[in-house]
Amino acid sequence: MKIYNFDELVNRQDTNCVKYDGRLQFFGNNDVLPLWVADMDFKTPDFITEAVQLRAQHAIYGYTFRPDSYNNAIIHWLKTRHNWEIQKEWIHFSPGVVPALAMSVMCFTEPGDSVIVQPPVYFPFFSAVKNSDRELIENPLKLQNGRYFMDFEDLEKKIQADTKMLLLCNPHNPGGMAWTKKELQKLGEICIANNIIVVSDEIHSDLIFKGHRHIPFASVSEEFAMNSITCMAPSKTFNIAGLSTSFMVMPNKKIFDKYDNLMKGTHLYGGNIFGSVALEAAYTKGSDWLDQMMNYVEGNYDFMEQFLKENIPLIIPMRPEATYLVWLDFSALRLKDADINSRLIKAGVGLNRGVQFGRQGKGFMRLNIGCPRSILEEALERMKKEFAE
Ligand SMILES: Cc1ncc(COP(=O)(O)O)c(C=O)c1O
Repeated sequence: MKIYNFDELVNRQDTNCVKYDGRLQFFGNNDVLPLWVADMDFKTPDFITEAVQLRAQHAIYGYTFRPDSYNNAIIHWLKTRHNWEIQKEWIHFSPGVVPALAMSVMCFTEPGDSVIVQPPVYFPFFSAVKNSDRELIENPLKLQNGRYFMDFEDLEKKIQADTKMLLLCNPHNPGGMAWTKKELQKLGEICIANNIIVVSDEIHSDLIFKGHRHIPFASVSEEFAMNSITCMAPSKTFNIAGLSTSFMVMPNKKIFDKYDNLMKGTHLYGGNIFGSVALEAAYTKGSDWLDQMMNYVEGNYDFMEQFLKENIPLIIPMRPEATYLVWLDFSALRLKDADINSRLIKAGVGLNRGVQFGRQGKGFMRLNIGCPRSILEEALERMKKEFAE
């Protein structure tokens, strides 16, 4: 088995990458260590870059379609990694998971209908609802003993006659929960009883910490499969978000056809040659790399947890069950939100502000540990200097 080196430092500056080249715009300077936007500082693995380079050598990049081998790669990946059996006819292309969420809202709800989200949550969930004139219903998660839980009582109370959809984040960004079967079961039952379709964003499904499992919402039961849309992608897993390639799984033919019809009208189903080639390489050859990468990320988390405990114990990390994102609780420092952010920037560290994920994120920051350990260590040292006393 090939051993990959995740300690390798790659200079990403001047590649038009949001994480590094967007610092001036987002943080006001180019000096912060960027541990914010959700992509990793690890090289996209060689089996993907080689497949893309091979295709690039054929010097015509004309219109394309996705071959059977592309669908088979997805089917194989979901069966082997998540024990979920799907059929080729259920798979639909999307240029991204956020576009899939937004288009699903437009396709399956009407202006004025309400859509439920569970904050604190990845901020495009809010805009996917609000920007198309649907009403946003918040069903906030409950924080108990260092983990977020769903509040089913609150959910049942908030459902209205015009509530048509729930956007689920599974695993959850920013909390890192890999929702359990029991949690998904209860959520799905409430949605079925109230005719609410579940759109499940499972973009982080491959990034699972030891001792946890990703359970696709649709895999819980046949009934859930028929009442849901699952959105997935190789983009977070293999660091290829710039290739704009993701997919949706819709086992219900009525749902599939309605969505497909909308896509046919917009021509948003084409995709790009390199994204398809990358997905196929990732899902046929990616298991070993992914296991090693997650092992490294868990090592990063353990390192960070220990460092904080020893040096800045008032900053408390939430141990993720999934994702390479860590939700850090700064509330014991008793600082205003804006001050936490400006002091981090002054210290030379660029994180996402918790309040971006909803007002429930007050006092929190989100830190991306998908990077070589030396970068994380330097960021923690800078935080120690600023906050230790
Ligand atoms: C939960 C979640 N969904 C979707 C996305 C982005 O998806 P895409 O780039 O495919 O639109 C992210 C990126 O951070 C995410 O965390």
